[in-house]
This record gives sequence, C-alpha cells and structure tokens, in this order.
Amino acid sequence: MQVTIAQALQDAHCLVDHIEARLLLQYALNVDAAFLAAHSDDILNHEQLNTFQLLVMRRSAGEPVAYLVGEREFYDLTFKVTPAVLIPRPETELLVELALSRIPVNQTCKVLDLGTGSGAIALTISKHRPLAHVTAVDLSPDALSIARLNAERLGIHNVQIRAGNWLDGLDHDEFNLIISNPPYVAQGDPHLDQGDLRFEPHIALMALNDGLACIRHIIAHAPDFLAAGGGLLLEHGYDQATICRQLLAESNFINIFSCPDLAGILRVSGGQRDDRALATKAHC
Ligand SMILES: C[S@@+](CC[C@H](N)C(=O)[O-])C[C@H]1O[C@@H](n2cnc3c(N)ncnc32)[C@H](O)[C@@H]1O
Repeated sequence: MQVTIAQALQDAHCLVDHIEARLLLQYALNVDAAFLAAHSDDILNHEQLNTFQLLVMRRSAGEPVAYLVGEREFYDLTFKVTPAVLIPRPETELLVELALSRIPVNQTCKVLDLGTGSGAIALTISKHRPLAHVTAVDLSPDALSIARLNAERLGIHNVQIRAGNWLDGLDHDEFNLIISNPPYVAQGDPHLDQGDLRFEPHIALMALNDGLACIRHIIAHAPDFLAAGGGLLLEHGYDQATICRQLLAESNFINIFSCPDLAGILRVSGGQRDDRALATKAHC
C-alpha cells in the first residue's frame, strides 16, 4: 500500500494532535515544515513510514515530543534535549525576560544560573548579552553534558558551565544577578504522574519540604554571593509566590516582587541585596 505524506498525517491524527504529528513526520523525514506543506502527495517509503508510525505510537503512549525529536525551541533558540534534562517551558521565558531587563547591553555583568539543565536560561542570556559573563551550575553530570553541547551548537563562548551543588564552591560577592528555575514540585504531587513530567528527571522536578527545599536554600545563601546592588530572580510553583516573598524578606532582600506569567500566574519572584543591612552586619 502506498501512503502519501497527507495520508500519513491524517492517519496519525486519531492518536496524536495535528501539530505533534507534523513535528514527528518532519523529524522522521529530516525535512522542515515548508517541505511537508509543499510535498503532501509524496509517497513515503517503507522505512520512513515505519519510523513515523513508531514515533506516533510512542507519543500516544505519553513520551514527550521534545524527547522523541531531541529538540525544543526556547525563546529564540533551539536546544538539544534528552531525558537527562527538563524540557524548557514557555513560562520560563518570563525569567529570561526579567533577567535581560536587568543586564546592561553595553557593560560587563556577572550572571549565575543555578540548576541550568539544558542551559536554556544561561545560554539564551549569554546569546543576548554577549558582554555578560555567565556561570551555569548543575549537580547532574548528564545535564551538564547537554548544556555544554548546546553551548557548542549555538556557538556561545561567554558562559562557564560547571558542576556544583547550588552555590557551593563559588566566590562570595561575585555576581550582579543570580537566577534559577530550581526543582519546586512537592514529593507525591499527583502532577508527577501526569503528562511529560512522568518522563522528566526527578532531580529536575522534585524538592523536599513541600517543594520548597531548593528555593529556601538558594534564597538563604544567595545574598553572600551577590555583588553590591545585585539581584536574585527565581521561578517557582503557581502557589509559592507568597512564601517566596516571605523568604526573600527573611533573607533581608529589598525591592521584593512577584511577576505573573502570560497565564496570569505569579511565576517569578525576586529581590535585591540590601547593602545597608550587610554594611551594618560588617560593622558589628
Ligand atoms: C527545573 S530544572 C531547570 C532546568 C533549566 N534551568 C530550565 O529552566 O529549563 C532544575 C535543575 O536543577 C538541577 N539541580 C537539582 N538539584 C541541584 C543542586 N543541588 N545543585 C545544582 N543543581 C541542581 C537539576 O539537575 C535540573 O537541571
């Protein structure tokens, strides 16, 4: 039986949605969207059809499209992703926007991304602020390999990608901006058994103490690593903005705020190092 591109897509629609079917077929044929549109009557060979049908079956069993095709768009860049890293989320673009608005275009600036995963945040910032010196840290060796691969693929050189447990081993008073999208899902949260989360690494998703352990750790220790006037920006869960602002206040941050994502959910909170409080501490 001869199957055209149009027919293969139509057959797939009962198992996966339109856009996903197109992405999987592009990947199976190693072509772009324009090719699919222009060649809808082309006949697929046996191997192409088998590859596509297998991808559709895996997707319909729940595997994320990004892992199947090995890539995900984030901001304006394409990142290699594997099951070793979180799939970059559209809501994390808010964290990048807020970071970019605080990093000068014409001056150097030291930026730290904690829990870099695929490098989505650190590399997007590095690309858009070539004068910035970005440090990207992760505990997972497999994630670090992917972040390094992405830096190479994107031709980004103003980033240092290093292994570390949050801020351990970094220099005090170093950074003008610290950003993080840490794990913030509570252990036992039912979302962990749903959708893409089932396939993503637990180290990227889950945190102890109701999902707040990593956020608490970063907020408590970040002031020591911020330069004068430096800022901290954190992505967090849909119901964690209030506690984040409280923790920031307890760590003597000033100009504390929370910012909504496009869905209207308070998604990023942050603040600035209070240099007066640190000056007082130094005098004591
Ligand atoms: C939610 S993912 C964020 C990935 C990426 N920054 C993004 O936004 O797509 C959290 C990341 O934190 C890393 N991580 C977890 N515990 C860590 C620790 N103790 N120190 C450093 N990184 C850690 C995980 O390996 C994971 O890559």
